[in-house]
Amino acid sequence: MPSTQLQTERLVLRQWNDDDLWDLADLNADPEVMAHFPAPMTAEQSAEMLGIQQSLLDAGRPAYFAVDIWSTSTFIGFIGLNVPRFDAAFTPCVEIGWRLKRDAWGNGYATEGADAVLKYAFIGLDLPEVVAFTATGNTRSRAVMERLSMSHDPAENFEHPALPVGDPLAPHVLHRKARSR
Ligand SMILES: CC(C)(COP(=O)(O)OP(=O)(O)OC[C@H]1O[C@@H](n2cnc3c(N)ncnc32)[C@H](O)[C@@H]1OP(=O)(O)O)[C@@H](O)C(=O)NCCC(=O)NCCS
Repeated sequence: MPSTQLQTERLVLRQWNDDDLWDLADLNADPEVMAHFPAPMTAEQSAEMLGIQQSLLDAGRPAYFAVDIWSTSTFIGFIGLNVPRFDAAFTPCVEIGWRLKRDAWGNGYATEGADAVLKYAFIGLDLPEVVAFTATGNTRSRAVMERLSMSHDPAENFEHPALPVGDPLAPHVLHRKARSR
């Protein structure tokens, strides 16, 4: 299967390579980037993540792309698709997600890359719907969902089943976007 690469005005969303490990490990170890997750990730967890994502891309399955600013080939993070492994009212589903280096925030890169990923999901992978979810307090991520015109019904807010009851990160919002005809 030919490897998929997405190009936007400023970004290239590409396959992973072994040299990305140090940048990915730095990203996943940054406490500010990981503030809405239970914990930053270890270098071993990042290495495992990189291998899994590249295998999924190789198989043409939903996965996260490595993201570079194409004019400088600077790695800024990842944007892509994921199949959640927990059970909830809205699963099975495919979610869109993003995680960028702190110094890349505030430039519109997440929304620009995610817009390309949504087109890939609907046209390339022929998915009928893509969801996005995040901890209620993750206002930056919620703003990306809104800029992508993903709909939000407060009745679908949920407690993340992988987190303990009462954990401040457990309350989540769910956004949806359906393929247009
Ligand atoms: C979530 C995350 C990707 C959002 O990044 P972001 O930079 O806020 O979002 P965007 O890339 O859409 O950029 C929008 C901002 O860029 C600004 N911007 C600057 N130049 C721009 C341009 N040319 N085009 C569009 N927006 C531009 C916008 O005004 C907006 O600014 P503000 O919200 O700071 O006022 C980022 O905060 C992140 O990686 N967080 C940690 C990981 C995480 O929580 N992921 C989500 C888990 S569900």
